[in-house]
Parts: sequence; structure tokens; C-alpha cells
Amino acid sequence: MCGIIAYIGKRLCRNIVLEGLSRLEYRGYDSAGFVCIDNNHKHLSFHKEAGGIAPVQRLSEAVKFDGYAGMGHTRWATHGIVDQRNAHPHFNCKKSIAVVHNGIVESYEELRQELIHRGHVFSSTTDTEVVAHLLSDLIDHHSDLKSALLDLTKHIRGAYAFIFLVEQYPETLIVVRHRSPMVVGLGDGENFVASDFIAFSDKTNKVVFLPDDSIALLSKDALELYSFEGKALPYSPQQIDQTYSDIDKDGFEHFMLKEIYEQKRAINRTIAFCKVIGSYNDEVGNPSSDITLQPHPATEYNDSVWRQIGLTKDKVKNLRYINIISAGTSWHASRIAQFFFEHLCGIPTRVYLASEFRYMPFFTEPNSIYIMVSQSGETADTLEALRLINSLEQHTIAITNVASSTMVREASGFLPMQAGPEISVASTKAFSTQVATMYWLANRMALERGTITAEQMHTSEEDLFIAAEILEASIEIYKFKIMQELAPRYARYDRFIFLGRHVSYPFAMEAALKLKEISYIFAQCYPAGELKHGPIALIDEKTPAVLFSVLDELIYRKLVSNAQSVKARKGHLIVFAFEGQHELIDIADCAFILPRVAPLLAPLAMAGLMQFFVYHITRQLGLPIDKPRNLAKSVTVE
Ligand code: G6P
Repeated sequence: MCGIIAYIGKRLCRNIVLEGLSRLEYRGYDSAGFVCIDNNHKHLSFHKEAGGIAPVQRLSEAVKFDGYAGMGHTRWATHGIVDQRNAHPHFNCKKSIAVVHNGIVESYEELRQELIHRGHVFSSTTDTEVVAHLLSDLIDHHSDLKSALLDLTKHIRGAYAFIFLVEQYPETLIVVRHRSPMVVGLGDGENFVASDFIAFSDKTNKVVFLPDDSIALLSKDALELYSFEGKALPYSPQQIDQTYSDIDKDGFEHFMLKEIYEQKRAINRTIAFCKVIGSYNDEVGNPSSDITLQPHPATEYNDSVWRQIGLTKDKVKNLRYINIISAGTSWHASRIAQFFFEHLCGIPTRVYLASEFRYMPFFTEPNSIYIMVSQSGETADTLEALRLINSLEQHTIAITNVASSTMVREASGFLPMQAGPEISVASTKAFSTQVATMYWLANRMALERGTITAEQMHTSEEDLFIAAEILEASIEIYKFKIMQELAPRYARYDRFIFLGRHVSYPFAMEAALKLKEISYIFAQCYPAGELKHGPIALIDEKTPAVLFSVLDELIYRKLVSNAQSVKARKGHLIVFAFEGQHELIDIADCAFILPRVAPLLAPLAMAGLMQFFVYHITRQLGLPIDKPRNLAKSVTVE
């Protein structure tokens, strides 16, 4: 999974490509490369940087050559270790064909053996390089470029978006796409292509999202589009009114910290948006129109939200099952939302990890919906699950933060979160706005189904605003204690156990994920009730147990017993509790105490403080918080 951008046109391309590349680093930052048809000698010139922090930055400083057609790549390693040889672009033996790639070539091993047998010499251990060698043979064997490309698609299995620069065709950028997204930007005497619109969003907003299984030949003035059968494909450019506001840290040391503090506003914006969605009457399902969507005040709940997500009132009333599919932090938000849909609407809800869902038996049930939850709207596992469900003609709804994403385009309906761009790899405000969006949706469904009243619906909206308030206020209360005392103390431990029950169990999983992904400290999460079935053996004074409370009285009592069993084994106990929960607070070695909220919103209220705590533990360790090792923001490979 990687970021790619290419340019062809009237301007020299180096700065355009390198700047675009820096906006794509969220897709991977293991290494970076640039290649162009060199303006001086008309051959391909390239430079690659690998490893360390900020390879794109180093690339920008190192590249001195330039040209009118060029491309860049930022890598998240799948096949082949992170080193300079494996950084993209890759080449054929004569270095007359360069390729950058996002995706995985599954058939690469057999192709590689075949090509070696035919005398090709490989310079890397990636799956991508085979494609450059293969295309070179195919160009030699075919009378024209198009037939060579059509033939190429027949040899490659997997998911891919390739861009090729071929010395023999210096006026053309060649794009081949299967499964992985690609967007062309049409300019005046210049054209762009990238794996994400934001890479060139300041240069043009006239775009063509390349259809699946297509080949694009892009010159400075024209775009030719073909299917894998060789048929010319019509296209009509769309206008996207979304700009890449040059995101900076606004004085914060890291994006993660800035995004933690942005949560209150992001949640409020999300709820305000949901509240007024009723007055939105534009073409439902058209992502580009949604990007400029401006909420208007509305006082009554109407049907527009159902049209937005592709349902009708009657369908909502008759819903029998809700299925939610997601990955990573989005999966934790979905697991929390399961409680919302079940408790508030009385609809059985199942939550699946996207990477598992695709390989499980699929039972179509009448009156079911499938909600895909994804910050980026591009995660390969979730996207492929969406495609599978679509192919079985079931109803899909995308809840994402990126209104121009592939999931939004492909789902039957969508509901955008209003978190704004999330840059830090560790998700914070996307998580809290996902939780808020699904809480609102579950309440709205409950209202439609008559399990709550309009007054209760209003109260739930107020509860969301209150939870957002607490999320931020609790950080302020504990800020100095965390920074000066707690973070230095807990950064010394090398393993933690996280515990929760009911709605706080998926939240504890999210907390454990946050800690391990940015601090590299080992963190294991268990439902507190399972402690006695094995994990209690891990309890000792060197392994702090972090326990997240709930507001349901009965479950709270059970949690207190679990906490006592930790203390009885001389465990070190940290609790996130609510006011008045003395039994828990009194036995803890460290207690964070928050004001009470609506019981199901306990995780939302605790989110900011938990993230802030983890952030500062990591800061003590001096690690690259926004770009942790081995990770990427958007995982567009399986
Ligand atoms: C990556 C990110 C996580 C994210 C997950 C799912 O692993 O690092 O922060 O939760 O992908 O991404 P999505 O965009 O589908 O929510």
C-alpha cells in the first residue's frame, strides 16, 4: 500500500510531484522515489530514499534533475524489506521503463521465475519489479502500446494501480488499474494522476475517478480510457470542491495532540450535521455534491437521512439485522456502536473484522443492512467486503470521513463524519466522530421504530454534546498531572493489561491499540470478566492493569469485583472511573475521575483523556508519534 502521483504537462514536474508525494505519506513512509523523463538528455532519471524518518523530505532535498513528465512514490513495504533497492520506481533491465505501484502482484513469483528464465536480471525483491520487465517484453512483441498493455493485464493477478513512464513514449503517462483506486486530474495543458485527489487538489479540481479494470493513456492535453477488453470508455469529469488546506500543526508538537484537542469541535460538527441532515435535499448518493454540503437549521426530523443512506422509513421500521464491517480503530468504534443499535433500536447487530468477513460463509437475510465504517473509505479489506456484499445485492452504507472516497462511491448510501482531515497515523478524532455518528444514527432509527420518543432523541443529542464537553474538559483537569508525574512514571513499564466490560471492553481494546501502536509497549486487552480464566496469571506489580469503568450499576459492581481481584494479587491498578464510583476509585493506585454521562457514551467521554495519557507516555519515550514504525494511515492492501 503506497501513495503515487504523476504529472505530464507544460510545467517542470519535480516540485509538483514531490509536494504531492508529501501529501500522500499517510499511505506509507518506508521509502520514497522520483523519476522523470530528464529534460537534459531525454532519458529516465531517478532517485530513491529508504528508511529512517521522512524519506520524502530527504528525496526533495536530493533530487536536482527535472522534466515535463514524471512520477513519485511513497512506500509501505509488503514484498521485500525496506531498503533503497526495494523503493519505487522499478525498472526493466535497460532502465527504459519505470513503474510505480500501489497494491500487490499476487502472481509475481511465477512471473519472476519465467522472466529470469528469459534472461531478465532483477534488482529488487519486490513484487512490482516483474511488471516493468514483463511490459518491456510485451512492448517488444506487440505492434502498439495498447495491445501490449491489454496483454499485460492478462498476466497479472492481484490488486494494482500502476503508472508507467516509458522512454519510447515520452509524451504519455500510462496507468493500469485493477481494484486499487486511481484518480486523474485534468488541467490546462497539463494532467495529473494519483492514488488520492489531495495529491494535486491545489492544481485542479476537475477529476475523473478511473473505473475498475481500466487503462488510461494520459498526455498533457488528453485522456484516453480503455477497458481491459480494449474498448474505449466514455468518461465525464467531476468537479470536487474540496481543498487541501495546507495542514499544519497549529503550534502543537504533533498532529496527534492537535487532533485530540480537535475532537470536541469535530463531534459537535458531526452532531450538528446529523441534526440538520433532514434539510439536505441534494442528489442523494452523489459524493461530489456532498463535499460542499452545508447544513441548514432544521427543527423536525424528516426522511432525508434515510434517503442519504439509501433506505426508506418502512425499511428502517422493518430492519431485522444490522451488520457492521470495519478494521482497526474503526472496528473498535463499531464494536461500541453494536451496543447502541441493540440497546436503543432492539436490532440484533453483528460486527465483523473486514479481513475475516470476506472469508466467512455469507448468509443473505431479508431486511438486513451492512454498514462499512472507515475513516479513509479506502481500506482494502473493508472495501473488498463492501464489493462482495454489493455483488450479492445487499444494502450497503458507508460511514466515512472522506466524502470523495471509493467506499462512498460504491456503497448504496453514505453518512459522512465531520472530523476533518486526520493526519496522525493513530486515529483519535475519527474514532470519536464514528462513535458519535453511530450513536446519533441508532437513536434516529430508534425514533423511527418507536422505541424512543422525539424528546428522548433530543436528549440523546444533548448527551452527545455533553460527552464531547467532558472529553475535552477531563484533559484539562489531568493535563499537568499526566505530563509531570504520570507519563514519566508509566513510560517505565514495558507491558500493560487493559480491562473493560460491556461498552468499555471495546474501548479498552482501542486504548490497548493506541498504546501499542505509538509507544511500542506491549498491551494486552481482556474483557474484565475473563480475567479469572487465564489472564489473571499475568497480574503482578510490573504489569499495570488499566480498567475502564461503565455507568450501568450492575456491570459496574462486577467491574469492582474484577478490580479487587487485581489488587488481591498485588497488581498495580489504574482506573478511568466516573464521579461517585468510590469502590473503584478507592482501591486504585491511580484514578482518573470523570463527570457522569449517558451510560452508553462512557467511552466517548473517556476517549480524550485516554488518548492524552497514551500520547504523553509515548512522548516520554521520544518516539515518532505521528508516524509510528511499520504503520500507515490508510491500508490499501489486504
Ligand atoms: C490503519 C490505521 C488505523 C485505522 C485502520 C482502518 O491500520 O493505522 O488507524 O483504524 O487502518 O482504517 P479506516 O480508514 O478503514 O478506518
